[in-house]
Amino acid sequence: MTLPLPPDRAPLLREMTASLSAMPDPAASGHLRLFEDEAAHALGTAHAVAVSSGTTALHAALSACGIGPGDEVLVPALTVIMTVAPLRALGATPVFVDSDPATLDLDYEDAARKVTAGTRAIIPVHLWGRMGDPGALAAFASEHGLAIVEDAAQAVGTVRNNRPAGTVGTVGCFSMKDGKILWSGEGGFLTTASSQVAEHARAFRSHWQPAPPGEAPLSRLATNFRLAAPLAALALANLRRMPGLLEWRRSQTRYLLNALQRVPGLSALAPAAREEWNGFSPLLHIGLPGPRAFAEHLAQQGVPNSTGSFRLVPCDTRPPFPVPQQPCRGTAEILDRTLAVVLAEGDTAATLDHYANVVARAAAAWAP
Ligand SMILES: Cc1ncc(COP(=O)(O)O)c(C=O)c1O
Repeated sequence: MTLPLPPDRAPLLREMTASLSAMPDPAASGHLRLFEDEAAHALGTAHAVAVSSGTTALHAALSACGIGPGDEVLVPALTVIMTVAPLRALGATPVFVDSDPATLDLDYEDAARKVTAGTRAIIPVHLWGRMGDPGALAAFASEHGLAIVEDAAQAVGTVRNNRPAGTVGTVGCFSMKDGKILWSGEGGFLTTASSQVAEHARAFRSHWQPAPPGEAPLSRLATNFRLAAPLAALALANLRRMPGLLEWRRSQTRYLLNALQRVPGLSALAPAAREEWNGFSPLLHIGLPGPRAFAEHLAQQGVPNSTGSFRLVPCDTRPPFPVPQQPCRGTAEILDRTLAVVLAEGDTAATLDHYANVVARAAAAWAP
C-alpha cells in the first residue's frame, strides 16, 4: 500500500502573509468573515461562528442554549475534560452517561435513567471522529425536550446517515487546535441553523459587542473568545484545503491499519454502517492482557496514543467530580481496550512504518 502526496502547504503562507500585511488594523477581519461563510457552506448549515478554541466554542454554544446555574446536562464519560469544563464555568452540573463498548455510541438506557426535571441538554461527543447514530440522538433529545450541543471537536468531515457531524443538534462545536484535521494552531468554531444562537455566540465571544438585534452593545457581561486574525487566515487556507486534508488523514489511517493487520492481539475497529468516518485516529481493539499498560508502553516507545500519552480515563472518575457511586463501566472498558494512535498532518509513510514496527514488536514481546 502507498500513501498519496500530502496536500500542498503553500496556501498557508500566502494567506498568513496577507493577514500580517493588514495588521494591526482592528477592522482586519476579512479572513474571519470568509472563514465563517465558507465553513457554513462546507457543512451545509446556515451559520458558523469562529472562536478561540473548541473549549470556548462549547462554552459559547451552551450559553446560547441558555444553560446556566442549576441546569443538568448529560455528557458521555467517554470524553476529555474540555467537554465538561465549560459546563462548570456556566454553573451547570455535568451528569455522566455510559457508552456502549460494541458501538462506542451513547448508552441511551443509562441516559434515560439519568434524566431529571432539571435536565436541559445533552452533549454527544464524537470522540476519535466516530459518530453515533444521529436518528437515535435526535429521538432521545426530542422525547426529553433537550437541546443537543455536539462536541465535534475531532469529527470535522465525518458523516453518518448523510448527516455531517456538528449539524445534527442545535449547535455543533469544533476545535482547530493543531493535530486536528482542520487546524489553525489554536482555534475553534460553532455551527448552527439558528440565527438567534449565532447572534448570541457572536456577542458572547466579544464582550457582547456587536449585541444581538434589539440589545445594546456591552449591555451584558461576556468575555473575549475571539479568533486572532492570523489564525483566521490559517483556518481559511486550511478550510480551502479541506478535501485534501480529509483524504490525507483517511489515507494515513488506512495505511497504518493495513500495516498492523496481522499483528496478533490487535484488531481494527470498523466504522458503523453508513458512517463515512474522517479517520481521525487509527483505532484498534487491544485483545492482549494488561491493555492499558500496553498503550502506555507504546507511548514510552514513541507511538503517541490517547490513553498511553494523554492518560485518557473515564471523565466521571476525574478528581474535580465526586467519586461516582456507579462508575461508567462500558466507558472504562472502551478506554482500557482501545489503542487510538494520535496522528499529525506531517506524519509520512516513514513515520507510520516506524509506528507499525514498534507496535508489532511490542505486541509480539508483550508480557505484562
Ligand atoms: C473531544 C474534544 N472536545 C473538546 C476539545 C477542546 O478543544 P480545544 O483544545 O480547541 O479547546 C478537544 C480538544 O482537543 C477535544 O478533543
